[in-house]
Amino acid sequence: MTKLLSSDDIAEAAAILTGGGLVAFPTETVYGLGANALDNFAVARIYEAKERPSFNPLIVHVHDIEAAERIGEFSAVARDLAQAFWPGPLSIVVPVAAQAGLSELVTAGLDTVAIRVPASDLAQSLLQAADVPIAAPSANPSGQISPTMAAHVMDGLSGRVDAVLDGGPCSVGLESTIIGTDPTRLLRPGGVPTEAVEACLGRRLPAASSDDGIVAPGQLSSHYAPNATLRLNADEVADDEFLIGFGAVDTPLNLSQAADLTEAAANLFAMLRTADANSQRIAVSPVPRHGLGLAINDRLERAAAPRD
Ligand code: TXA
Ligand code: MG
Repeated sequence: MTKLLSSDDIAEAAAILTGGGLVAFPTETVYGLGANALDNFAVARIYEAKERPSFNPLIVHVHDIEAAERIGEFSAVARDLAQAFWPGPLSIVVPVAAQAGLSELVTAGLDTVAIRVPASDLAQSLLQAADVPIAAPSANPSGQISPTMAAHVMDGLSGRVDAVLDGGPCSVGLESTIIGTDPTRLLRPGGVPTEAVEACLGRRLPAASSDDGIVAPGQLSSHYAPNATLRLNADEVADDEFLIGFGAVDTPLNLSQAADLTEAAANLFAMLRTADANSQRIAVSPVPRHGLGLAINDRLERAAAPRD
């Protein structure tokens, strides 16, 4: 049985986590499927619930920079990024600290860890109440669309997790931006626009490539996949297609009529789900490739990639 909890039940949610259970909880990006990152058995249950390939390491959530410095070694660059963007939708990959005590399953055998301090009030309250680092991938079965509402989590994981903490819709709606810090590279575009990270660093932020010797995160090409096929950059729509619009397009599902990328990011995953439930073929209007548009296009391209 999966319990649906509310903001009044933070203590109960925290007790489930410290007792080795699984709690899905809201962050400003997407809902995460949380487990105590120090407890190998609890972390194993995440992989089991999501049916996730175990080579994919997990992001560890903590409530502030001090807690982050207990599990990771922060270089000057990592600290600058943390100070500029935490709490918020940024994950920073740093070497694991000697005394971190993290489950090996969290890092999937790497000597680095991705750390994030989420901004959402409920996530903050839960992390403080649990007072242990919480490993949390997005709270969806592996390969499916990330959840931005408690009902999405229930659709995918009901019966497979102990509780879902309902905090309403996620305000950002796209997963965190992930930055590797040795060397400094963009591992995944996300909720913090790349341009904002570059402004903080005072230089360009290259995307990770295979010669960097760092693992570009489990970026399986087909990810975030709806059941329907997806056609991108659609300027017109066929009779048998369901159009997800952007800007001044006449369609029942529009990411943002006002062509606002922040609004479009917040709507993206919920609209993909709605379109998927209504049609076998989805078309999506062009979305500009700057700011959050880079992350939106990244997710759309993965959703449109051929499935294996
Ligand atoms: O917004 C988010 O980031 C959400 C919320 C719940 O925090 N979490 C999320 O987690 O999207 P997940 O597991 O779906 O994606 C985590 C990504 C994976 O692609 C993984 O490979 C990468 O982070 N990652 C984790 N640890 C890493 C490491 N040490 N080095 C490189 N990439 C890492
Ligand atoms: Mg995910």
